[in-house]
Amino acid sequence: IQISPFVAGLPKVELHLHIEGTLEPELKFELARRNGIELAHSTAEEVQASYAFDDLPSFLTAYYDGMNVLQTSEDFTDLAMAYFRRVAEQNVRHVEMFFDPQAHTSRGVSFDAVITGLRRAQIEAERQFGITSALIMCFLRDFQAEYAMATLLESLRYREWILGVGLDSDENGNPPAKFAEVFARAKAEGYLLTMHCDVDIPGSIEHIRQVIEEIGVARIDHGTNIVENPELLSVIVERGIGLTSCPISNTWVSDGSKVELVKRLAEAGVKITLNSDDPAYFGGYIAENFQRVADEGGVDEAFLAQLSRNAVDISWAPAVLKAQLR
Ligand code: ADE
Ligand code: ZN
Repeated sequence: IQISPFVAGLPKVELHLHIEGTLEPELKFELARRNGIELAHSTAEEVQASYAFDDLPSFLTAYYDGMNVLQTSEDFTDLAMAYFRRVAEQNVRHVEMFFDPQAHTSRGVSFDAVITGLRRAQIEAERQFGITSALIMCFLRDFQAEYAMATLLESLRYREWILGVGLDSDENGNPPAKFAEVFARAKAEGYLLTMHCDVDIPGSIEHIRQVIEEIGVARIDHGTNIVENPELLSVIVERGIGLTSCPISNTWVSDGSKVELVKRLAEAGVKITLNSDDPAYFGGYIAENFQRVADEGGVDEAFLAQLSRNAVDISWAPAVLKAQLR
């Protein structure tokens, strides 16, 4: 994918990025060596070839498997610094990144190692690259709500380092309402709320209804099929609930990029944004996602700039920082 000078230079804000999904094969090998872990593949080409997902579960298997090399606080710092270094070159200015503590605590890595490692990288990235960032803690929806609640309570020791909470992993059979109590408590603790509503899953519209009406999210991650429901669509336009769409990710785990839906939703007045989701697995960082919309959607530069401004508008950055990002 060839990035145009306009897309390269556009100031960018990323709101839908799983930091564990930025683990590139080269760093995976380095961490495996450091931690004495045997990997199934020995070249980047072999690893890429193994990424043959055709739906969310097949992607998630590779994604969770890849995380085994992340063991120490330093590993999380190196992971996030590699991401920041890479997107500094794409003119990314601000990132609100997801992390999945349960994907680590469930295999014996402490919450403390994860968050102190990420926190160190955030501070260093602001110093080195001028990129500001925040953390959004995601719960894994295919685990029980009790485990999410325990994770939420554990996170309170680090309350001021975490801006919001989200919900990810396999949505099929795991509706938002399963986590209503957890999110109500998170809200009471002052966390901002978002949730994944993946495209093309059974019951998707009902899940979108739940996140808006029962959970009370400020944003929806993916959620582009809300376009099928004019009533819910008008609610998110009125309330300014934005969507974080990930075109290249969609080509792997749903039935296409959904670029046409991005155009329709923007026309309808939805604050929709472009993001990379899991760039090391899907083969595209945020600039590649903007370029994908430019190439496939045939949209003009003003449209791309509007999407970029939408991200500032719906970001959770403090007002002073938002003014600088505009
Ligand atoms: N976790 C990491 N990436 C995800 C995605 N695209 N959907 C759901 N859960 C995820
Ligand atoms: Zn995601």
